[in-house]
Amino acid sequence: MLNFNFQNPTKIHFGEGKIKAISKEIPLNARVLVVYGGGSIKSNGVYQQVIDALTEHTWFEFSGIEPNPTYNTLMKAQDIIKEKKIDYLLAVGGGSVVDGAKFIAAAALYEDDGKGNDPWDILAKQQAVSSALPIGVVLTLPATGSESNGNSVVTRDGNKLPFSSPLLRPLFAVLDPSVTFSLSDRQIGNGVVDAFIHTIEQYLTYSVNGKVQDRFSEGLMQTLIEEGPKALSAATKDDLDVRANIMWSATMALNGLIGAGVPQDWSTHMIGHELTGAFGIDHARTLSIVLPAVMKVRREQKREKLLQYAERVWQLNEGEDDARIDQAIRLTEAFFEKMQVPTRLSHVKLGRTDIDLLMERLKVHGMTALGERSDITLDISREILTQAL
Ligand code: NZQ
Ligand code: ZN
Repeated sequence: MLNFNFQNPTKIHFGEGKIKAISKEIPLNARVLVVYGGGSIKSNGVYQQVIDALTEHTWFEFSGIEPNPTYNTLMKAQDIIKEKKIDYLLAVGGGSVVDGAKFIAAAALYEDDGKGNDPWDILAKQQAVSSALPIGVVLTLPATGSESNGNSVVTRDGNKLPFSSPLLRPLFAVLDPSVTFSLSDRQIGNGVVDAFIHTIEQYLTYSVNGKVQDRFSEGLMQTLIEEGPKALSAATKDDLDVRANIMWSATMALNGLIGAGVPQDWSTHMIGHELTGAFGIDHARTLSIVLPAVMKVRREQKREKLLQYAERVWQLNEGEDDARIDQAIRLTEAFFEKMQVPTRLSHVKLGRTDIDLLMERLKVHGMTALGERSDITLDISREILTQAL
């Protein structure tokens, strides 16, 4: 096992009816900005529950954070923050709203040294975040794990870039699985697949004998494989336990626990971000296209873990090693198809000629040494994208 430090200070309030917990979590003297997206929280009753819980607080609101939040939208929040002397952010929504709140929180306390620097430098130049407003979360879409990690992804002019800081970890997150009943099938499928791929990117590398991490990851993947399709099936989509298991899996997949002490491979995500930045494809749908290709192209480097995955996640215990790896990859693709996400570039109407643009962007963004051993060069990324055609 590799050495590691692990600290996850986000307090979780999990369960139906838990949104009212925010009234005690946010200090009464705070000046709160409630940030949200395009309005789903107004039609599913979450907004009402939030404002009922904030009756004793001084609060304002900022809405319109779009999926794959943009710099331009997020910077607009700075005016109200200054004007109303906001000192606490409450993000109510999915990963985009939570990620957006993190950028707003960092930009609000960003120190302008008068030399033309800009909060975008936090992403473009990976400048460290030196301080940020505190953030609380009411999560409405289980997928990203953003509710209890320090990561965020923001887009500016088609450049979709990640950044991270421990200062951006939410202080608390409310996870009420009943608020996920209003999700469309598309967002359910996206969420389950995103959480699955977060897990596998911290697992499908090389063995360091991290038994606890491996078995946690295998448990999360098995849970998502079992429960994900139930959330799409008419007979079981109203089952609160199905939603609860998906929601908790998604949080556990990217709260730092399973990735501590093991190598990680974020190549699928980094290549996927270019697909979203260039062509606007939903985050999870980029991953379901890229991951199977990564498994095929990096088959030799990941051989030992692919066999462990085949045996422990898919119970493939018999036959030749190569046949079991092939079957595990096929079953992974079949699971994605069940979740109604694409597994090929052609499924989203992209072809060989689009790969050049993606390669150019990977290069500009410095994504030239990806993977658990930093050995996925641009040439190998091209091979992966070609495999995904
Ligand atoms: O904007 P509203 O009206 O709220 O609608 C949203 C949005 O249209 C809707 N929605 C959310 N909860 C709902 C709901 N509709 C009905 N009922 C509900 N309960 O769903 C749509 C998609 O929301 P979004 O927040 O964009 O989805 P998701 O949670 O998948 O977040 C995706 C973003 O997170 C980033 C992605 O790159 C992408 O930008 N990620 C963040 C990560 C992190 N911070 O750790 C890691 C991930 O790998 C990922 O990169
Ligand atoms: Zn993701």
